[in-house]
Amino acid sequence: MSDQIIIFDTTLRDGEQALPASLSMKEKIQIALALERLGVDIIEAGFPVSSPGDFASVQEIAKVVKSSTVCGLSRALAKDIDACGQALSVAEQFRIHTFIATSDIHVSSKLRKSQEDVVEMAVAAVKHAKGYTNDVEFSCEDAGRTHIDYLCRMVESVINAGATTVNIPDTVGYTTPSEFGGIIANLFNRVPNIDKAVISVHCHNDLGLAVGNSLAAVENGARQVECTINGIGERAGNCSLEEIAMVLETRKAKFGLQSRIDTQEISRTSKLVSQLCNMPVQANKAIVGANAFSHSSGIHQDGVLKAQNTYEIMTPESVGINKNNLNLTSRSGRHVIKHRLSELGYQTSDYDLDSIYDLFLKLADKKGQVYDYDLEALLFFDQQRQDYAHYELVSLQATSGREIIPSATVRLKIGEQTVTQSSVGNGPVDASFNAIMTMLGHEELTIVDFKLDSKGEGADALAQVSVIAEYRGRRFHGIGLATDIVESGVKALIYVLNDTYLADQIDEQKQQVRVAGE
Ligand code: KIV
Ligand code: ZN
Repeated sequence: MSDQIIIFDTTLRDGEQALPASLSMKEKIQIALALERLGVDIIEAGFPVSSPGDFASVQEIAKVVKSSTVCGLSRALAKDIDACGQALSVAEQFRIHTFIATSDIHVSSKLRKSQEDVVEMAVAAVKHAKGYTNDVEFSCEDAGRTHIDYLCRMVESVINAGATTVNIPDTVGYTTPSEFGGIIANLFNRVPNIDKAVISVHCHNDLGLAVGNSLAAVENGARQVECTINGIGERAGNCSLEEIAMVLETRKAKFGLQSRIDTQEISRTSKLVSQLCNMPVQANKAIVGANAFSHSSGIHQDGVLKAQNTYEIMTPESVGINKNNLNLTSRSGRHVIKHRLSELGYQTSDYDLDSIYDLFLKLADKKGQVYDYDLEALLFFDQQRQDYAHYELVSLQATSGREIIPSATVRLKIGEQTVTQSSVGNGPVDASFNAIMTMLGHEELTIVDFKLDSKGEGADALAQVSVIAEYRGRRFHGIGLATDIVESGVKALIYVLNDTYLADQIDEQKQQVRVAGE
């Protein structure tokens, strides 16, 4: 049996489907490229039949990713598989992943079919997918609650039909490690053609056992693990990629297995996914949480100073965290910034030095000292800048305090015009938002989420605001970054406004094409 573990990342499919607002194509491509750099073997880029936007994103990812296999999900239906085949055919290497549920609960209540019919559909789906590629994965949805006899029959049938990978998901995170390991052991003992396919696992984290279950499966012969960055995904999420990768690395002697993951890319990829997905990582999260490598108690600190391995089983550097903070001030030159960014793991192709240096100087003037986390926030902010800006913030003045009515005056450039509006509110952010909404008469836009996050430490940290707004049945996500909280909020709202403006333009163009075609 191979000693290589195949890492299948589904951040852009299982992870993305659970987000409060979907990612833009640009954001999905950014994540896909980060996953490729991380060394992921298979990137599940989306579910092409689910929407034209998903189809287009899968296709674009298939075009740009070269060293990972790009994969698309499909139900066991010809039209889904055709959408996958069409979206992925531009890729250097691609996989079609098709699935159907196999547990009694799903077969009878959801599919309302007989077990016989479900096997037939699965076999037909695999054969249909084989018309597009040899690399076909089949998943038995809710395998964790499927009767073992039926599961064995299904696995044997789809391997006979040509599936090269068979995935055993614990879709609802119900099993325990000994049970789940037992299911995999049973398949290896009972399915006669099991050696003709790679056995994969896909564990959800409803009981906090996703990583434990995946490892138990690996110990019993599974050689592909499906996971996501930061463990994001449906409900309580999926098995976390960084945890699996670091278990295999840190406990190499126990498992004797390896993956292609470049562990030093972990921290950076985690931050990117957290930022773009608007999903903060809990401080005590293993591997990537802010406290994962901090030692608080005096006894622990003393121990680590005497010998690092007293309380550290892996180093922060091994996951790409560099603890060495340089003093960066407005006197630091461009080459220092470039050098620091390269130490943090960024290549010059990841950013525009002129633009980052410009942002750096402005921040250094405001804060005095700029830290690594500030630089990374600026980099992220710069990457998120919109290519189009119908709305631009010209100036903002907000007043608040005890015993006064908060008020704000906002001046925006809207297209070629400059408009100024004042308003009051229950706080300075609310007053600024009210001023903008009054100015635009935007009754259809509703703010559904407003999140404030501090990037760094201390009172002079950068404030990052994420806003999610609903507009004409769709959700839009915007971010704003500044040392001033009110300004960050206004920038985040303007980000959303620019996206809704673009969406309106696209809809209008589609409408014109439709009318012209009638
Ligand atoms: O959880 C699950 O069963 C899935 C399948 C589509 C693989 O996400
Ligand atoms: Zn899943």
